[in-house]
Amino acid sequence: MQRKEFLKTLGAGALFALTAGCFGGCSKDDEDFAPTEDVDFTIDLSDPTYDNLQQNGGYIIKDRVVVAKDDNGNYVAATQRCSHEGFYEVSLQNNEWFCGQHGARFDLSGQGLNSEASRNLTIYQTELNGQMLRVFS
Ligand code: FES
Repeated sequence: MQRKEFLKTLGAGALFALTAGCFGGCSKDDEDFAPTEDVDFTIDLSDPTYDNLQQNGGYIIKDRVVVAKDDNGNYVAATQRCSHEGFYEVSLQNNEWFCGQHGARFDLSGQGLNSEASRNLTIYQTELNGQMLRVFS
């Protein structure tokens, strides 16, 4: 086989290898940025580590989950992973979930509020028992 023929063959193979994964569709809309792991942990609110959760509008991040105290004093939780492009940039801002990467905004129930948030955000449940706050899927 001539060198030129070999490179031609290699080029076609490489092109196939690079594109084969996209035959089913590679558009951004097909990607799923929802977290796959189950969430279930408990926070002791008396632990100074979680002092940010003592004030309305405060939040902490634990195990890639944003746990926050909303403006009404309720505990809420959402994935830190944004549904837009999967960056772990979600936090609480102005009583909404906000992604600092491109500006996606979600209400506290995870409903998208702008075009970057066309897919909803995964929300977790919270349960307060004394000073113990459970966050779970
Ligand atoms: S990844 Fe969050 S807005 Fe783009």
